[in-house]
Amino acid sequence: MNLNDIGHSILDETSTPEALRAALDAFVELCVGVTGIQPDVSFDAWADDSMLPSGVAINPKAAAHCVVDYQRSVVFIRSVYAAITTMEADYPDTNLQVLYAGCGPYATLLLPLLDRFTGRGLNITLLDIHQRSLDSVALLLERFECSHHSIQLINCDACNYRPTQQFHLILSETMQKSLEQEPQFAITANLAPYLMTGGVFIPQCIEVELCLANLANEKVLIDRLPKLAHIGLKATKQRHRLATVLTLSPERAAYQLLTAQYQARTDKIELAPTIVDIPILPNVAAMDLVFFTRICVFKQYKLEDYECEITLPLKYYGLPTLSGGERFDVSYQLGSYPKFNIEPH
Ligand SMILES: C[S@@+](CC[C@H](N)C(=O)[O-])C[C@H]1O[C@@H](n2cnc3c(N)ncnc32)[C@H](O)[C@@H]1O
Repeated sequence: MNLNDIGHSILDETSTPEALRAALDAFVELCVGVTGIQPDVSFDAWADDSMLPSGVAINPKAAAHCVVDYQRSVVFIRSVYAAITTMEADYPDTNLQVLYAGCGPYATLLLPLLDRFTGRGLNITLLDIHQRSLDSVALLLERFECSHHSIQLINCDACNYRPTQQFHLILSETMQKSLEQEPQFAITANLAPYLMTGGVFIPQCIEVELCLANLANEKVLIDRLPKLAHIGLKATKQRHRLATVLTLSPERAAYQLLTAQYQARTDKIELAPTIVDIPILPNVAAMDLVFFTRICVFKQYKLEDYECEITLPLKYYGLPTLSGGERFDVSYQLGSYPKFNIEPH
């Protein structure tokens, strides 16, 4: 499979899950052949990650491994294609300015599409904190002859990057489930102000919801149901929704960051807390407090619960067994390891 076939298969809405997996596996094989960077889950490779002031930037091999979070990759690549196509129509006679923050070693969310925008060419800025990833992307751009686009590679922290221009499209996928660990929030807050009026930030919105749920029961459902897309719906019926504890969107992120405050009790800078009341339910002691993540990547392209690694549920540990009637402050903590924290109100 060549790069063009791979892009075609991913964008084809009739492709089966098997065909999509095969296309992404073929993409990895092509990239490994050119760059020598092998994907690796890197669960024990913290040494190669970069601990930045606003979150962890995962190492190049782990970033390469993101390709095989299949549904994530498919939905993001389709979104990027749809966004660029929409903007080509909205801005005729303009070379679109695209910023891809955290491109990793394969520029996965853009590279399989570059052949499709040969007409006008794009002005692309690819940015990553790891020079090794940028060197890898440079090899891929040369191999796949992308010279009809104007592309610059920048090695810096996207949370501090101060571009001298505005962009039509800004793209960043620097997150884990429930926005823990990686700096998606800080990157969105820093870069969204550089979006042109009418421009698109991908992902458009990320929502984290706190629920009472029984994850063991949900696991039984998942094992039984053949189709992942149905799980969220079925499981939702058995959950007790408590609150949306964070909505991350380019419109609001910079303001949320500006209004974040130092909290002496946790010694962290936190976004304004959400107050959550635990209902008195007969089975509350057996339930887990769980964060669920949903992503609107672009318009109809969405990632729901369980559809990919970055929308898996995250159970909160660190509170005594619930009895009902408790009131908590739920805050998103910024810093080198961003995460949610729950304290008695
Ligand atoms: C989760 S990987 C995603 C890789 C690729 N974009 C994809 O979607 O498959 C995140 C990438 O963003 C980079 N990154 C994370 N935080 C960053 C930051 N603050 N500034 C620049 N790059 C960052 C990491 O080095 C890594 O390459």
